[in-house]
Amino acid sequence: MRLTVDGKVVEIEADPEMPLLWALRDLAGILGPKFGCGVAACGACTVHVDGQPVRSCSIPVGEVSGAVTTIEGLSAGGKLHPVQQAWLEEQVAQCGYCQTGQIMSAAALIDEIPDPTDEDIDNAMAGNLCRCGTYPKIRAAIRKAAALKTAGI
Ligand code: FES
Ligand code: FES
Repeated sequence: MRLTVDGKVVEIEADPEMPLLWALRDLAGILGPKFGCGVAACGACTVHVDGQPVRSCSIPVGEVSGAVTTIEGLSAGGKLHPVQQAWLEEQVAQCGYCQTGQIMSAAALIDEIPDPTDEDIDNAMAGNLCRCGTYPKIRAAIRKAAALKTAGI
């Protein structure tokens, strides 16, 4: 089976029913996306398929036909993605476990809505849980990331 992940073609031998997250972590060695709940309820495993955020724990790898982007391929040209830059500047992460999923959801949000309202942010991020309670910093970082992206930084 052939997947495009983070701009590279990856050949894996997988049961088509295997969740994409298993294929990424166990077969392709891409450990950025995390396992949290396994039932599409926490967002830790979020990656993009053709730019859309998906819960990789709950999609069979055989159903993935688009290009997959993980946290490991989010930045380009040696430059941090605006969401990553904003996350650092706002010092969002605590334990960090949920953060790769949070960042992927946030990146998809500002791709779709360049200047999101608080309601847009709450709606887009509602499925990403953080046991450390970093939500206020996540909101602040998303507003900063949107501004950085609009400014072309
Ligand atoms: S591990 Fe996929 S949503 Fe929780
Ligand atoms: S930073 Fe610890 S779970 Fe979110």
